[in-house]
Amino acid sequence: MPPADLSMVGVDFHSHLIPGIDDGSPDMESTIVMIQKFKEMGYQKIITTPHMMCDYYQNTPDKILKGLDEVREELVKQNINIEFFAAAEYNLDDGLSKLIKDKKILTFGDNYVLFELPFMSEPPNLQEIIFDLQMAGYKPILAHPERYSYWYRDFEKYEELKTRGVLLQLNLLSLTGHYSPETKKVAEKMVEANLIDGIGTDCHRIEHLLQFEDNLKLKHLHQLVNQENLLNKKL
Ligand SMILES: [Fe+2]
Repeated sequence: MPPADLSMVGVDFHSHLIPGIDDGSPDMESTIVMIQKFKEMGYQKIITTPHMMCDYYQNTPDKILKGLDEVREELVKQNINIEFFAAAEYNLDDGLSKLIKDKKILTFGDNYVLFELPFMSEPPNLQEIIFDLQMAGYKPILAHPERYSYWYRDFEKYEELKTRGVLLQLNLLSLTGHYSPETKKVAEKMVEANLIDGIGTDCHRIEHLLQFEDNLKLKHLHQLVNQENLLNKKL
């Protein structure tokens, strides 16, 4: 198979490219190197999503948007032509309910909110938070559902989430085996079952993009890139 054509995807909506505010890019230079690589791979637009985690990264919309401005200034300075936006990746922790209540959520596209779950166990308030998000008018997108190992023996969980109106975003590196062989297997199964709404690089450092670039011939990646209703193509 030839390498998948990422210019057909066009938009990435999961990455950590604002310098120094989470476990992603440490500085502006690294950010620019990554953005250049996105461009080279065929992306025309990036919506970067710094972590919002009340115990670890106490980011605020102001902090993220200030970082966004600084990156944009640097892109202009270096004459790099790409659309660059920011939202956030919300951890479903104790702080999220309050942010929803206060309407302090950073969204993208048609009021989409990217959120992630703890990796240890399913949070007891998962359904409640999904409901709260939807009642507040947000459209929740669950980041990397294939990485939550507590659902590996409970595949119907994914269908149930979709029935509740949650969109599912697959990490592209899951298809390469980057996280674990089990994650790869579940990721492939989800693609085969047509459960994936959108795809993301979840890029924290340049190595993530390089590893992804080395794996563009994967069959399941081709299927996603060719998927007509892929959310990335509508952003
Ligand atoms: Fe992420």
